Amino acid sequence: MNRLRRLVPTYARIPIRPRRLRPLSIPVPVQRTISTSHTPWSRPHLVFPATPTKDQSYATQLLPLPDPPVQPAAKALLVLYVPYESTKWPSHLEIEDDLVDRLGKVVALNGVRLVVAYDGGSTEGIEQVYRAKLLVPGGLVESFPSITQSTLTTSDFLGTLASVSTKPTSQTPYTEILVCTHGARDCRCSDIGGDLVLALRAEVERRGEVLLPSGEEAEREENTSGVPRWKITECAHVGGHKWAANAISIPSLTFLSNLRPSHAPLLIDHLVNPEDAELKRQLWKEHFRGVIGQRVEEQVTSWETGIANPAAETESMVDTDSSPAPPPERTPLVVRFTTHDGATHDVRGYEGESLMEIAKREGLGAVEGTCGGHCECATCHMYIPYKLIDPPYTGLVPDLTDAEEDMLDYALGVREEESRLGCRIAVNEGLSEWSLGGKGVELPQY
Ligand code: FES
Repeated sequence: MNRLRRLVPTYARIPIRPRRLRPLSIPVPVQRTISTSHTPWSRPHLVFPATPTKDQSYATQLLPLPDPPVQPAAKALLVLYVPYESTKWPSHLEIEDDLVDRLGKVVALNGVRLVVAYDGGSTEGIEQVYRAKLLVPGGLVESFPSITQSTLTTSDFLGTLASVSTKPTSQTPYTEILVCTHGARDCRCSDIGGDLVLALRAEVERRGEVLLPSGEEAEREENTSGVPRWKITECAHVGGHKWAANAISIPSLTFLSNLRPSHAPLLIDHLVNPEDAELKRQLWKEHFRGVIGQRVEEQVTSWETGIANPAAETESMVDTDSSPAPPPERTPLVVRFTTHDGATHDVRGYEGESLMEIAKREGLGAVEGTCGGHCECATCHMYIPYKLIDPPYTGLVPDLTDAEEDMLDYALGVREEESRLGCRIAVNEGLSEWSLGGKGVELPQY
């Protein structure tokens, strides 16, 4: 594989980890004019077919969602609006755009999730100045009309991120649905997401409600008519491309996946009537994938409550013992990790947990698991000589899949036949025994 290693500059306040990168020929400099006129990653500007003409067999398949369906805990969502179309973004926007890269790190350090959206505008002749909205469930915390490189070190901005509370300061006077249409990484997102965008916009118009045009100006207009107003915005980097189409609703900050154009009426009904238990159950049962602003346990509770069948529950309360079921038994196991400095760490975990989860819980620094174990970040890179493990432990590590191999392209210090993603490997008794017989699972420095 032809790979290019590039050192990402280190900024005073932001730890940046070096990465292995694919060669990309259009670097985006700081404070400059962005041109997309010859971007090699560009897909043709999307003209979403009303009736798909290409092979979209994957559009009919729904892959099982994670169980439980949760997002990594984040206290707020920062939506960054950039003036270039999500369909033209490179595979990893943060590699090309240093402001997005730095901003992502700054917000992550403050427990905030970043999503990048396209809200109209032209890339020609504009400086790298983007607007953003900081949201918590229920509404807006703050609008940032212009975020630049220098914004990232101001005490105002950092203070706002650090002190985000759970309460919004104002309501958004419209409902927004961010739909991932980012096709450079996985065409399912642009194909299915694109169709969903069209279906949602058509559904809003069919109801005679207001579809706001792109741009900030329209958002500021007062809603004097009382007719519901909507924004259907294209975005990227929602995560979970195999579950396309993926969407985030604002202001509830709910992540929904496996959506199809036919779900547009249900999704809009649910957002208009969020307290309607039956609508919520119908949508969440197959599509819920977590909420920003809730801890992982709270998301699980939200999901379980949302998909509960009230009628069945009433019945069971009448004629059965209502004492809660005991939690399933889990077998504790110990796995040995060796960090890059040679120190060994015998870490306790449970059968079925991933190596990423237990290493991260233990605070082993090289393991970040930024994507929450969805094979989308390579920050759980580890070394296991999986092809050389002797009997009786041979075969305890699952085979490398294409998706994992692709993602390993983005890890630093890859070793042939040893590099693996910790989130893809579940702990089991044999793996535990094997690891305790030597150095176990080795961790890279970054
Ligand atoms: S946690 Fe992101 S790829 Fe493993």
